[in-house]
Amino acid sequence: MSVVNQNSRNITDLSPKQDDMFTNVINGLTSNPKTIAPKYLYDELGSKLFEKITDLDEYYQTRTEFDILNQSHVSITKLMGKDVDLIELGSGSSTKTHVLLDEANLNSYMPIDISTTILTSTVDQLEKDYPMLKIHGILADYTQAFSLPELGGNKKVVFFPGSTIGNFEPFEEAMFLKQLSNTLDKGDGLLIGLDLRKDKHIIEKAYNDKQGITAAFNKNLLTRINRELHADFQLENFYHHAYYNVEKSRLEMHLVSNVKQTVHLQDHKIDFAENENIHTENSYKYSINSFQKLCMKCGFKPVEVFEDKNKWFSVHYLEVM
Ligand code: AVJ
Repeated sequence: MSVVNQNSRNITDLSPKQDDMFTNVINGLTSNPKTIAPKYLYDELGSKLFEKITDLDEYYQTRTEFDILNQSHVSITKLMGKDVDLIELGSGSSTKTHVLLDEANLNSYMPIDISTTILTSTVDQLEKDYPMLKIHGILADYTQAFSLPELGGNKKVVFFPGSTIGNFEPFEEAMFLKQLSNTLDKGDGLLIGLDLRKDKHIIEKAYNDKQGITAAFNKNLLTRINRELHADFQLENFYHHAYYNVEKSRLEMHLVSNVKQTVHLQDHKIDFAENENIHTENSYKYSINSFQKLCMKCGFKPVEVFEDKNKWFSVHYLEVM
């Protein structure tokens, strides 16, 4: 662990030293069906494209969650309590957090992100906007275990917005929640945003936007692998496919091979049949009830749920038991 402190930046680097992206990608591309973990979507351009997605008309999630947080901030900050160390998982540009930074009674704010560039610029900006608040960025992959620095507040509240937990498989989600409740103390909070189950056309539109930003976000994964792992994916030989799997309550994103082809990744050869998929993301959609049941098994007590009027999205406040 190293503490970087340049230009008043306060960032702790807990990112895995030996990122095994190569091994993970090879394993994923040689399994059947082919998969690549969604966290690899977020290189610098991927993070920027995702920010663009959050502004799309079709992508109702971000603005709906934002509205819920803004409408309910009085109740939420009351539940959070006083002298809080607020920890955000996958903070990106921390845009949704402003209402909490403005209204909550905080000792510190700890944004955690996997992208150095985004984290650095976010911390720099926040230090300008909130000169009275302790800001401490953490460069980490929160899908792996890590410990949190003690910043001296009275309690911790973890903010995990954007339904990002929906990227986990159910078993990973349970492990993650258990690990999180173990890392925290009794009475600490979890404020988490979840996309709810709804008419599949609304969901599918959100991942098939007219401008093609989501398609570009998905295909950027191949560009990244070409650049970082020296592969030779031909981008025009793959297309973006996103659909809602009703049975599994999840939106699935795939890259589909247009043609029969062979892709080279260093000395590995990867064969694709025509119409063969690479599964690049699952985005699970929730029912409030089943999520609360899961949380109770994982060390969290549901305290309150906030929803929009259409019941498209939900924000949950839970406490460590
Ligand atoms: C950040 C994982 C919540 O699943 O909706 C957006 C990512 N993928 N469009 C989501 C995403 C395609 C997003 N999460």
